[in-house]
Amino acid sequence: MTQITDAGKLQHLLTIDGIDRAHFDRILAYADDFANQHQHEHSVNHDLSDATCALLFFESSTRTRCSFELAAKRLGATVMNCATQDMATSKGETVLDTLHTLQAMGTHYFVIRHQSDDLVMELAQHLQPGSHIINAGAGRVAHPSQALLDLMTIRRCKLNQSNLKIAIVGDIKHSRVVSSQLACFSLYQLGDIVLSGPSSLLPSEVPYDNVRITENIDDALSDADVVIFLRIQLERIPEQERPDKEQYFKEYGLTDARLALAKPDAIVMHPGPVNRDVEIASHLVDGPQSVILQQVNNGVALRMGILKYLHEQ
Ligand code: CP
Repeated sequence: MTQITDAGKLQHLLTIDGIDRAHFDRILAYADDFANQHQHEHSVNHDLSDATCALLFFESSTRTRCSFELAAKRLGATVMNCATQDMATSKGETVLDTLHTLQAMGTHYFVIRHQSDDLVMELAQHLQPGSHIINAGAGRVAHPSQALLDLMTIRRCKLNQSNLKIAIVGDIKHSRVVSSQLACFSLYQLGDIVLSGPSSLLPSEVPYDNVRITENIDDALSDADVVIFLRIQLERIPEQERPDKEQYFKEYGLTDARLALAKPDAIVMHPGPVNRDVEIASHLVDGPQSVILQQVNNGVALRMGILKYLHEQ
């Protein structure tokens, strides 16, 4: 997988792994600046006025697709929000040929979500210099911009503290968000991470010393600074293996009693989309400890940071 050029520049953002922290430090610094500016106004800046950006989402999305569109527009780029169900891939054209076609029209940025674990990474090996692929969600394996916006949110809410206890609860096994979060939070040494959920939704092991796995949700939440709940990825689980939603909420949903196990100033996060009263009690989604909409808000600034940084490379 090639994300970094021979000259050490970041050409593509495919995964968190394999990228030096210095690149992310710049992206996060830009994102913080944009977030601070945009608290007051949503002005367009012209950093990307000479660039064209194609959004190619082969899976559904609200947050990622719309925030990349807004981010590119706020940087002055020309944006093509491609309706993938109506594109020539439905007539047998390969996604790579679609990219070459759009590249021939002068497209520089390809923001791609695809159900395949590997396709986005493979496409990056076939693009000309000057083109950038941003992975907006690849199968079960990686969703790097989500992990970076979650890191940004934690750092802003917790004032750059380290030694945090972070509990991540839910469908860990099928989550591309968690894969990228573990790489990202470990790179930034945020603290200890505890993964929890029913055994059928947990991996048997993870390759990080600061991460442990437990089926005991009370243990995971106890004294946590950050609690992150995840959707059950029904689209990746055979129908006969899907948990019953009511039973799941009883055993692994966030309730007042469970939230009380965490630190009093713990923040509640969820990458979205949320299924209310399945992963989190509905009133806690909107409660004072929830930063779910702050995550969404930071997502626009963070994606502006990614686009601006790639443009400079
Ligand atoms: N978190 C996330 O990727 O949400 P969307 O599927 O709405 O983009």
